[in-house]
Amino acid sequence: MNLPVLSIIGLGKLGSPMVAAYASKGYKVIGVDINGDFVESINKAKPPVFEPKLGEYLLSYKERISATQDYREAILNSDITFIIVPTPSQEDGNFSTQYVVKAGEEIGKCLKEKNEFHVVVLVSTVTPGSTEKDLLPALEGYSGKKCGVDFGLCYNPEFIALGNVIEDLLNPDFVLIGESESRSGDILEAFYKNICPEGTPIKRMNITNAEITKIALNTYVTTKISYANMIAELCEKIPGGNVDIVTDALGCDKRIGHKYLKGATGYGGPCFPRDNRALIYTARNYKVILPIAEATDEINRMQPDRIAKKILDVLPPQGKVCILGLSYKPDTNVIEESQGIKLAKKLEEKDISVTVYDPAAMNNARQLLRKANFANSLQEALTDSDVIVVVTPWPEFKEIDPDWLKADSTIIDCWRMLDPQRFNKRSKYLAIGVYHE
Ligand SMILES: NC(=O)c1ccc[n+]([C@@H]2O[C@H](COP(=O)([O-])OP(=O)(O)OC[C@H]3O[C@@H](n4cnc5c(N)ncnc54)[C@H](O)[C@@H]3O)[C@@H](O)[C@H]2O)c1
Repeated sequence: MNLPVLSIIGLGKLGSPMVAAYASKGYKVIGVDINGDFVESINKAKPPVFEPKLGEYLLSYKERISATQDYREAILNSDITFIIVPTPSQEDGNFSTQYVVKAGEEIGKCLKEKNEFHVVVLVSTVTPGSTEKDLLPALEGYSGKKCGVDFGLCYNPEFIALGNVIEDLLNPDFVLIGESESRSGDILEAFYKNICPEGTPIKRMNITNAEITKIALNTYVTTKISYANMIAELCEKIPGGNVDIVTDALGCDKRIGHKYLKGATGYGGPCFPRDNRALIYTARNYKVILPIAEATDEINRMQPDRIAKKILDVLPPQGKVCILGLSYKPDTNVIEESQGIKLAKKLEEKDISVTVYDPAAMNNARQLLRKANFANSLQEALTDSDVIVVVTPWPEFKEIDPDWLKADSTIIDCWRMLDPQRFNKRSKYLAIGVYHE
């Protein structure tokens, strides 16, 4: 069987792992980016972005991978094109489609020269309605061709977690396909049957429902996180309360489940906060209020203040704070909407001395934190600090030796990943979500 050739437009945090993952399944993949450095990087089998396993994959499957800045080269030599360019959030919560439209115009110009049926697949997250309102006219206008006749259009978002992108792409819980007509949906379904384990559900629907499903799903997950954080706050107030004991039991109910039900810090990153706000924005546009989504966002916005208050309650005058973890989650250097950064900024505003440490995100954080002291190692970050806060649950923070801490310091463990018995000797150990005398 001749496999279709793929082109992937946008070689960033999601696009470049897509190139690698699909090449690993036998597909020839041509990547396109306007960023010449990223193109060069892919052609040298070097990861243009931080993502575990990406380097190994690019190297192992380099015969099937190429990248270019030239749309024509990519579109004329491929059968399916995935668009995975940024869709930045605007002030009101809406996603901008300016880069998607630009990509659509370039693809349209190439489709004009093509006789074969070509499938264009939008992967970037968009506000419901945008694929057909913004991308479709760009494709039809610049190609002079008709969607559903000369080319097909699908909306096919991915539900991946940074740090585990390749694994998630190859083993999704389900595949979501919004299709302009069944011919393109059939082509995309056949592609995913080849990529995913047998039996992976493939949900096909119109484009609008797929757009709604994408942001509704992420909003549901964020609701679970804010719910657990709400219970954590309650547990801290009731003598004997402990959020882990409560959520561990709650999660046993199959209607609830354990995933994303850990009372800790708020959620961050390039998807969760903005997808939730985009759902709120979409609903308001249709004069509908979504109180659950709004409360989820509100609870999340409260989390850095909640932790800052705990720090201030125990910080001695002129005391120094250490923040461990600046990436929004472990295994990534992405700091977008990171709780560690938000917390550090809040303390900086109060002129409190802050030292920060993160295994991967120090360079990215330097642009945002102007006053903080950037430690060279985990141990160095701890030695002179009066209050230490574990904000991101990087596994290496489990290695903290209690002897590295200053005597009488306080360690605030947002994820309850340290052993209280070991830390309560020289220091005071405080866990988020647990009642303390
Ligand atoms: N990163 C994630 O965790 C994640 C998860 C799900 C969905 N998404 C969505 O995927 C989209 C892309 O996200 P990302 O994190 O990969 O972004 P990114 O910023 O890491 O990468 C985007 C890439 O697109 C390139 N680009 C921009 N305009 C272009 C154009 N006209 N032609 C070719 N290349 C162009 C940029 O140079 C960049 O390399 C967004 O809509 C995002 O919401 C991201």
